[in-house]
Amino acid sequence: MNINKQDCIAFDKADPLRHCQDRFTIEPGQVYLDGNSLGALPNHTPAQIENTIKREWGVDLIKSWNKAGWFELAGVLGDRIGELVGANAGQIVVCDNTTINLFKAIHAALGINAHRNKIIAHKGDFPTDLYIIEGAAGSAGRDIQIELIDDESTMVDSFTPDVAVVVLSQVNYKSGALMDMKEITRKAHEAGILIIWDLCHSAGALSVELDECHVDFAIGCSYKYLNGGPGAPAFIYAAKQHHNVMKQPLSGWWSHSNPFDFAHQYTPAEGIKRMLSGTQPILSLCGVGAGLDTFSGVSMDSIRQKSMALCQLFMDLVTQQCSEYSLDIIGPVNSNLRGSHVSIAYEHGYPVVQAMIEQGVTGDFRAPNLMRFGFTPLYISYEQIWNAVSILKNCLDREVWKDPNYARTSSIVT
Ligand SMILES: Cc1ncc(COP(=O)(O)O)c(C=O)c1O
Repeated sequence: MNINKQDCIAFDKADPLRHCQDRFTIEPGQVYLDGNSLGALPNHTPAQIENTIKREWGVDLIKSWNKAGWFELAGVLGDRIGELVGANAGQIVVCDNTTINLFKAIHAALGINAHRNKIIAHKGDFPTDLYIIEGAAGSAGRDIQIELIDDESTMVDSFTPDVAVVVLSQVNYKSGALMDMKEITRKAHEAGILIIWDLCHSAGALSVELDECHVDFAIGCSYKYLNGGPGAPAFIYAAKQHHNVMKQPLSGWWSHSNPFDFAHQYTPAEGIKRMLSGTQPILSLCGVGAGLDTFSGVSMDSIRQKSMALCQLFMDLVTQQCSEYSLDIIGPVNSNLRGSHVSIAYEHGYPVVQAMIEQGVTGDFRAPNLMRFGFTPLYISYEQIWNAVSILKNCLDREVWKDPNYARTSSIVT
């Protein structure tokens, strides 16, 4: 049965998250389908950062480390993220970036599983993860092999007794495919393996249950679905049972048991603070807090429901409207089995994405030929999905790839 614009408007009327769109600053008429790369600006972020600058920094100056809670912010924000990713308090800190946090987590896991010498990862995962695995293996102080798998269906066959650590993304950054965190973690543990999950494309977009799945370590960014702002600090989760034994390699003074003793020797802090390294960017942390405020009064379950509905609508409309073009939606066709973005392989993907951006629909392009569209449930409406697919079709009908204005000139991002 064909879907029409009126159907999409009706979906919006029935949407329990509709009011959340008003929490964000998005230019009128713009359809922003790139929140999986950089989340939109929450309305109150500028005022909140301005307050930190003018009052906490400008007036209270150094007193603010205590008075405004700057010292504790990494853990306070970590607990707030914990509420969105199923982690009890005291297991997450917000600090550094995903790349650095992954390095810390791999080192910690290799240290715990010290008698095993292999890391398994997915070949299709985000390159920084693979580069960091190489770097962490190379600096582990023992010979560590790396096995990159590319077939998830047989992945657990590689979970052999020599494997120390598995590193996986819960949602693949290209295909959007969603891994079964609970089952894979269970299989890893059955084989005595520790697991690290990259939550960059899942935190804030779907219901993650770190504690319930008995995950060992997790890392993720706050600038995508958590709306923390460009380059906002990332987070790292370590399950409580590892806190006393984990060692991380960037053992700076913020992870010292008594940083203000200024002792010559390093003694690690108790608990998750052990994952900190040095002073954190307070203004950026303030942006993370403002981003998390956009989740106020909203359940992750309702976010997941809407995310699946948006993805399904987009895929159905692309199939309905653009069937004469050789567009190939990659990854699972069932939105139950994907995160909150959809990628379409198309030979003219780059010029089509550029032309769509010019018409007010921002997605992004991932080499070699993927048009990628992210659906942030807090601010995307069903009618916007209709409009986006209409514009996609319009660009295809206009054969925009024949227009030199949309030819590829830069290697950067979109
Ligand atoms: C899945 C995934 N992991 C890791 C990263 C890298 O994060 P960062 O550059 O913040 O360290 C990204 C960035 O987009 C990502 O998508």
